[in-house]
Amino acid sequence: MNPEHVTLIYFSPTATTRIVLEGVAQGMGLEIRDSIDITRPEIREDQAPHFSDQLVIIGAPVYGGRLPKDAADYYSRMTASGTPAVLVVLYGNREFEDALLELKDISADQGFVPIAGAAFIGEHSFCSDEFQIARSRPDEKDMNAAREFGQQVIQWLRGRDLKKRPDLSVPGNFPYKEVASRGVIPFLDVTEDCVECGVCAAACPKSCIDETDHFATIDELCIHCCACVKVCPEQARVLKDGPIKDIARWLSEHFETRKEPQTFMAE
Ligand SMILES: Cc1cc2nc3c(=O)[nH]c(=O)nc-3n(C[C@H](O)[C@H](O)[C@H](O)COP(=O)(O)O)c2cc1C
Repeated sequence: MNPEHVTLIYFSPTATTRIVLEGVAQGMGLEIRDSIDITRPEIREDQAPHFSDQLVIIGAPVYGGRLPKDAADYYSRMTASGTPAVLVVLYGNREFEDALLELKDISADQGFVPIAGAAFIGEHSFCSDEFQIARSRPDEKDMNAAREFGQQVIQWLRGRDLKKRPDLSVPGNFPYKEVASRGVIPFLDVTEDCVECGVCAAACPKSCIDETDHFATIDELCIHCCACVKVCPEQARVLKDGPIKDIARWLSEHFETRKEPQTFMAE
């Protein structure tokens, strides 16, 4: 197969997944034909597409060692007929556990041919000035690795007959790690620095910011992705004292050692 363009499909509340996918595409030297951002709630409400004779890169962050539910649900509704897929997960320097395997299994079940996989590191959603976790990643070294991975995929793909089904092996276990259920967690305070500009509400993938109540987070709907925190121009959204802040502190104390991207090619 000699692709001339590539389609990106991603869930990426704080943009690290999107940035790495674009780096992989750049390394491939291919035009990005389409960029399907399923972070947007209205896109997830659309009918999921069918793919045929093209190359796709599918990406998602790791949440609790798994795919975020909204991403897994959407990817389980896409269909494909033998479409080669490059699979990428982004994690915050703790572990990616079963997320890449879950992405591979879903895409294979839906008719894609997984040809390569990767786990990259992105600044942790809970990273702040107080609790630094994988701050500013992906950095230049990560982006070089993303571009190299893209080059490697294209070299692997050129002239290859995908009817001889390639076998991609990635780390992870089945049954997958259980999704932790902590119930409704009080998550964010909105400080008096908030100017009610609405940037947070526009960025929220769950439409769970109440514009009629001083842009408070509706905790029952929130997935703690921190899109609103990172996008706020006034830095007016801060973690409340409680379980998420405790996790942020624990992560910053236990996962300081830099992890490097891992890539996997089919045989
Ligand atoms: C609810 C939640 C759970 C997370 N779980 C993990 C995890 O299990 N392991 C890890 O290393 N990072 C974890 N992270 C961090 C994200 O995977 C990481 O920040 C990623 O780069 C975010 O991708 P995005 O920028 O595309 O949103 C979690 C983040 C959130 C919000």
